[in-house]
Amino acid sequence: MTEEQLQALLQEMTTAEKVGQLTQFAGAFYSEQEDSTPVTGRIEFPVDEEMIKQSGSVLGVAGATKLAAIQREHLKKSRLGVPLLFMADVINGYETIFPIPLGLGATWEPDLIEKLQTISAKEAASAGLHISFAPMADLVRDPRWGRVMESTGEDPFLNGLFAAATVRGLQGEGSLIAKDRVGACVKHFAAYGLAEGGRDYNTVDLSERELRDKHLPAYEAALDAGVKLVMTAFNTVHSIPATANSALLRDLLRGELQFDGVIISDFGAVQELIPHGVAENEAEAAKKALEAGVDIDMMSLAYTHSLAALLDKHAIDSALLDEAVLRVLQLKNELGLFEDPYRGVSPQKEQAIVGHPSHHAFAQTVAEKSMVLLKNDNVLPLTKETTVALIGPYADNQDLLGEWSIFGKPDQTTTLKQAFQGHFAHAMYATGSHLYERDEALLTEATMVMEQADCLVLALGEGKDRSGEGRSRSSITLAPCQIELARLAKETGKPVIVALFNARPLDLTELEPYADAILECWHPGSEGAQAAVALLSGEVNPSGKLTMSFPRATGQIPVYYNAYQTGRPLPPGSNERFFSRYIDIPNEPLYPFGYGLSYTSFSYSNRSLSAVEWDGSASLTVSVDVTNTGKIDGVETVQLYIQDLVGEVVRPVKELKSFQKITLSPGETRTITFEITHDMLQYYHSDLTYASDSGQFRVYVNGSSVCEQENTLTFSLVKS
Ligand code: BGC
Repeated sequence: MTEEQLQALLQEMTTAEKVGQLTQFAGAFYSEQEDSTPVTGRIEFPVDEEMIKQSGSVLGVAGATKLAAIQREHLKKSRLGVPLLFMADVINGYETIFPIPLGLGATWEPDLIEKLQTISAKEAASAGLHISFAPMADLVRDPRWGRVMESTGEDPFLNGLFAAATVRGLQGEGSLIAKDRVGACVKHFAAYGLAEGGRDYNTVDLSERELRDKHLPAYEAALDAGVKLVMTAFNTVHSIPATANSALLRDLLRGELQFDGVIISDFGAVQELIPHGVAENEAEAAKKALEAGVDIDMMSLAYTHSLAALLDKHAIDSALLDEAVLRVLQLKNELGLFEDPYRGVSPQKEQAIVGHPSHHAFAQTVAEKSMVLLKNDNVLPLTKETTVALIGPYADNQDLLGEWSIFGKPDQTTTLKQAFQGHFAHAMYATGSHLYERDEALLTEATMVMEQADCLVLALGEGKDRSGEGRSRSSITLAPCQIELARLAKETGKPVIVALFNARPLDLTELEPYADAILECWHPGSEGAQAAVALLSGEVNPSGKLTMSFPRATGQIPVYYNAYQTGRPLPPGSNERFFSRYIDIPNEPLYPFGYGLSYTSFSYSNRSLSAVEWDGSASLTVSVDVTNTGKIDGVETVQLYIQDLVGEVVRPVKELKSFQKITLSPGETRTITFEITHDMLQYYHSDLTYASDSGQFRVYVNGSSVCEQENTLTFSLVKS
């Protein structure tokens, strides 16, 4: 349709029809059809037939046949024939499930993310979906928060690259969305990752400067990539819930950042303005949300119940309603729904695309790249001939897809045991322990199996029931029964290898001494077990690097690499009292950002800068020689960090600015160069201007965020 035709359609609409376009209900309300496709109808509330008939979009339901039937029924009833939009959380895959986003971050490969999101989009579109609620670009620092798994980590720059790659992968290029793509929705605007104490839906309190400097960049990267929708956050921003926050949505997002797509509330968030204490009733909640800029009210009845009456009373401006409706119609138009409300979907096509073997093969590659080798005291890789005992709650567990794999097929997921059987000639198995409860009989059985093996692989972790939304934990250790299993394994004197399946950085301090090697496998997706075996057996050399720090203790949280310098930084090795430190643990996390081992080793030498004084024009070059000092091919992620030594405001101890992922053969040395650009030195000052400061900067180039001071370089920015 042309813009004029959309305008004409809008003019023809009644108020009820307009309000309908701005409401989204869960799929459960639409489908009487037999189908086992899961829905995310998490709350029950009274919706009548008229509301369903008028509604504009549907949440959390998929399947070519099912959605075509819903659309057909809807169009029969719709006076003006405006098709429904189908939206769902296709976060790390539709049916072919890739690792959880925190694992995807550990690949440090935006192109890989783009490709897998193209696959997700293809599968989701073939199942009739139009929009995916991805990417989540929230910066995370608190692993108590169950949703850290949905983020790519604690770095604004990296999160931005991944968010943009996700948008490109889901949507493709251009303003029209091709039939094998879906629209993307960046969330949760803004700063949801800072929920106090890691408790979900909790208060967020941060300065405007901090919001702009650390949190907005990743959402902005998604906007720059052309994301079609933005979802509001549940939390407050400057004391006002994001969903009623006009300064955030209208002034910043629409005004300054020029976002002209659809803003959708999070699930029930409009109605939540009442318990939040900023609206007395539904009508006030609806008014505040619409005025703040929320177009679609997801799963709350505030808009449906109140907008028409507010309009009658002239309590809201009809232009605001029209603008919001027009944006929804434009989105439908960009998806081509007015020409073909079914977007060429058919069960045959769906069957041919969903879960295609090539998608699964790619899911294995991605999983291999996402896993992080945290420790290896010369026990990995395992040879095929090793007599290995695989023990633990994850030994034969299909819970590998992670939260949000709502359309995945856990019952068709290969377990680690099955993958071991396909690889190792002499493998034995035992459960050893449940995930959270001790079981004496299982322990006894495991002890017997341990005796017969040369090497013990413990498959430990946290189930998906312990992570994701509404699953904050006050302590993030492994369950005591699993620690006990590890202790028993260690007591055998045999090599103990831990393969960890979990969705947040855990406190591994107690486990670590019992393990000779630890492979962080995350919730790795449909082909995760095969990927883990490929790494454990050395068929593939580990290359993942953490994008979120693993704390030493829950009490150390938040601990993140890009923290601010204090006035009393603890000198290296010092144990003195009056410094910024804990008296019972070191300040450093157990495993830092950017860290991850390989079966080979790398050395860094000849770090140099093209100049020690720079006026900020063109670029400054930093180079380093990286050598593979081991015996096999390996992949290394060379990371560039910069520290502004003297700023107008206090500056982070370092910030990631660039990286390169390279493959080196044994003995090979490569000179890696990075261009330092002036933009890398800019930040938000106290008056919110974005600028750099003259003076000294320190440059770190290394294979993780940790780099000895003597291996750093400095230069001065001298502005003319
Ligand atoms: C979550 C969102 C999600 C939405 C729809 C909400 O509870 O916070 O991330 O997209 O539900 O399922």
